[in-house]
Amino acid sequence: MQQVRHWQAALKEHWGIEAELTRLDGEYDLNFLAIGGDGQGFILKAMRPDCEAWLVDMQVKAFEHISTQQTGLPCPKVIRTSNNQACLTIPDEAANARLVWVLEQLPGRCYALAAPKSNALIHDLGQVLGNAAKVLADFQHDGLDRAFKWNLMQAGWVSAQLACITDAARRDIIENITAEFSKLEAALAKLPSQAVHNDANDYNILVAGALSEPRYVSGLIDLGDMCKAPRICDLAIAAAYIVLDHPAPEAALAALVAGYHATYPLSTTELDMLWPLLRMRLAVSVVNSTMMAAENPDDPYVTVSQAPAWRFLTDNTIHADLLSARLRAACGLPVVDGADRVLAWLEQQRGHFAPLMGSDISDAPMGSLSVENSTWPQNPFHMPLEEAAKVGEEFEDGGRIWLGYYYEPRLIYAEPAFRKGPWKASDRRTVHLAVDAFAPAGRTLFAPLRGEVFVAEYRAGHLDYGGVIILRHQTPEGDSFYTLYGHLDPEFLNRLKPGDVVEQGAEFCRLGDPSMNGGWAPHVHFQLALTTEGIEADWPGVGDPDEMYMWEAICPNPAALLNVPDRKVCYQPTEKPAVLAKRHAHFGGNLSLTYDDPLMLVRGWKHHMFDEWGRPYLDAYNNVPHVGHAHPRIQAIAADQLKRVNTNTRYLHPAQTAFAEKILSKMPEHLEVCFFLNSGSEANELALRMARAHTGARGMVTPDHGYHGNTTGALSVSAYKFNKPNGVGQADWVELVEVADDYRGSFRRDDAQRAQKFADLVDPAIASLQQKGHGLAGFIAETFPSVGGQIIPPEGYLAAVYEKVRAAGGVCIADEVQTGLGRLGEFYFGFEHQKAKPDIVVLGKPIGNGHPLAVLVTTREIAESFDNGIEFFSTFGGSTLSCRLGKEVLDIVDDEHLQDNAKQVGTLLMRGLQTLQTQHACVGDLRGIGLFLGVELIKPDGSEATEICSYVKNRMREHRILIGSEGPKDNILKIRPPLTLEEEDAEMITAILGQILAEVECF
Ligand SMILES: Cc1ncc(COP(=O)(O)O)c(C=O)c1O
Repeated sequence: MQQVRHWQAALKEHWGIEAELTRLDGEYDLNFLAIGGDGQGFILKAMRPDCEAWLVDMQVKAFEHISTQQTGLPCPKVIRTSNNQACLTIPDEAANARLVWVLEQLPGRCYALAAPKSNALIHDLGQVLGNAAKVLADFQHDGLDRAFKWNLMQAGWVSAQLACITDAARRDIIENITAEFSKLEAALAKLPSQAVHNDANDYNILVAGALSEPRYVSGLIDLGDMCKAPRICDLAIAAAYIVLDHPAPEAALAALVAGYHATYPLSTTELDMLWPLLRMRLAVSVVNSTMMAAENPDDPYVTVSQAPAWRFLTDNTIHADLLSARLRAACGLPVVDGADRVLAWLEQQRGHFAPLMGSDISDAPMGSLSVENSTWPQNPFHMPLEEAAKVGEEFEDGGRIWLGYYYEPRLIYAEPAFRKGPWKASDRRTVHLAVDAFAPAGRTLFAPLRGEVFVAEYRAGHLDYGGVIILRHQTPEGDSFYTLYGHLDPEFLNRLKPGDVVEQGAEFCRLGDPSMNGGWAPHVHFQLALTTEGIEADWPGVGDPDEMYMWEAICPNPAALLNVPDRKVCYQPTEKPAVLAKRHAHFGGNLSLTYDDPLMLVRGWKHHMFDEWGRPYLDAYNNVPHVGHAHPRIQAIAADQLKRVNTNTRYLHPAQTAFAEKILSKMPEHLEVCFFLNSGSEANELALRMARAHTGARGMVTPDHGYHGNTTGALSVSAYKFNKPNGVGQADWVELVEVADDYRGSFRRDDAQRAQKFADLVDPAIASLQQKGHGLAGFIAETFPSVGGQIIPPEGYLAAVYEKVRAAGGVCIADEVQTGLGRLGEFYFGFEHQKAKPDIVVLGKPIGNGHPLAVLVTTREIAESFDNGIEFFSTFGGSTLSCRLGKEVLDIVDDEHLQDNAKQVGTLLMRGLQTLQTQHACVGDLRGIGLFLGVELIKPDGSEATEICSYVKNRMREHRILIGSEGPKDNILKIRPPLTLEEEDAEMITAILGQILAEVECF
């Protein structure tokens, strides 16, 4: 306290700043955060007593150099004293003279504590570092030339200290690093040296940004380690911290160098040094801290702080040359020296290569196997051999050659080997890096140009290459490149071995059949690569769509070698922005899109969907595909019925009664009559008409925040819509009652009478309708209010309401659009949970599994009241196809035990969410049954956390999980997947949601 008061007084006396001081961490110096009365922040630095003056002088001058350049670089300004001094010598409270200086405080918190560390943020950091190096390039100071163990140019000292590492395996790693480093030293010495920051570690970078806006680098602080070195050393130091515990370090490094290159372009020589220098910096760090640990054996922190660096050095599987190619590609530079010359030569030779297939293929038809254009394979998570052998059979034309596209995203690479993470919805390699030529097995292939056999192998794995040859070629200028021929008949193994030369135009192999080519329909996979570093004999034939900046550069379009134009064989996916623009042109503005960056989804399977690039998404939101997207039985029924007839209910068809009987078998006995319609709205509209017909009254009671559809009548009982700003407002024949939300409503879970108390709220509503002369036609409610926030009313609520409504002569309508058909696991319908007996049940969305279908089920009496002699007809409601599909959906729920699955997986998911609730204060409430779940997010004061909810929803999508948000304040995460959801999906949802909730705490 005395210390704080001392420096507080000094700050006031010399700088004229009155402020509250808080001590900050500091290894040797005293650092204080000083907050002035106007909220402005400063950092007061009282250096260690023996600090040399040049060290402060260098930093002060560098900061002042940066601020005079006005580049917008987020470095703090030096605050001078009242008489314009940058630094003073002031005695501390023990009378030791200290150099003292003051800096402005910058916004943000250190990078180490920021999450998520997105590639966009890392790219921004690269830009800041590039900018810093550029600004410092002409900064001079004598202090920069000191002998300094943290200057990577002087890092050779590590070699003499290796003995301090007692673990032999670890010592080997460091020895390797130092050996590589010493090979680099001569080239490094040739690079220009300049003033560099030299310590952009994750505590010297500040990050700011709010939940609803992107994060950015708001500060680069601490110039205490500045020295003179090639700028790549500076970047490598920052890079050494970026990779630690990063799940995708290569991509992070690519983002970092791309950002740097954008502001201060790097050469390929420099880029190639990044990896060895990064490793050398980590070696310096761990050796230094190992030595310190030896000096301070009782300080556990020293060892703990080394752990991430050792983890990275031990566990990473990064290939140095492949990383160089990646970094070069990220900067738009040739992936290897000479790659640009090879491409120019290929371009020049186009039209002069020997024809691969023995004949001109410039007129050969193209066949698309893309995610958008093709339905291969049926199940994008498993490609059985029978399907693989037939891939593309629709393009077969009497053995004529047809070509498959380069750069085409495909789902045929279905096996887990193509996945890049633990989940089905993890990143996946989909984009084809070759051109395919399909022709009958046995067709001879001719070498497009002279080459030396680099690889000649047989790969027996399921859906692997079978026979595969890689040839190494050379341009007349001596630059190498490679071509790969996959799915061959391995007979060539008898003739060809690595090192053999194949002359241009020589017959050198032939297409294999599925028994020997990995299992595929006969074709050659023809791929070009400008380098084999890091991929050697095992080239990826497909790449992750988000990594194409690299793969496209390593394995460019091989069209020139086939003597065809690039554009003929290069796939052009539908451009999302074009679709979006047309949507704006052709549709109304209130047709809304989910997500800040909307999704275009072109395939589905069970509870996953795929975008146009084949990226998989776990669909934890859509209840319409109740039995799963693209269910084979639904496909088969639709195709079968459309081949026969699809007509309406004015004619008899057994499918109509079969469907009705199936539905009624699930209903309580008093519900006997079905009406088939096209949508939930239409069914609710009919329910209102029936209630009126049956009672002769007009008035309706409905809970607040409900939704029943978009037609005029249904909208009138949908407070969720009519009460919105610009909504049509409440009709005088409608009375709202408070939704029975026992988390946030008038009666809470600690009140045993809450069900009855909520139910009692209908009494005044009914009385009001009667008073106004409308009488009571009925009560309509979503059994469990969904748009109101996934609310489960207290047990007995609905039964008590129904009793009152019936006593007043009204009809009870249960809107089961969201809750019916087994979703709740324990219950087939929500009203069963409530022990309530509705007079009308409305079913929609899931009952057609995507086909527009809704059903109203009611009592004989109500149906008779409605039957006034005027025909009831819905043209498409109850079409032959609808009836067959609806029945099939209900049969599948039974046959595949989906209600049971909803119970089991729902319980597992709820358990996972409960764990998250104990870990994250923003999880206010969890509710739901089966696979109808809600997670209410709250602020520290318990109020609705709308912004957090929006953040979580968008971040979940970035992690490939689709969920919704609901509630009057849009703060409830809505989880309502197809009933096929599996345990691993519940685990994925819990794991990713946990990560994202942890991020929320970092803001
Ligand atoms: C509970 C409920 N009822 C009715 C509807 C209206 O159904 P549709 O969009 O099929 O007209 C919806 C749609 O979201 C709903 O959630």
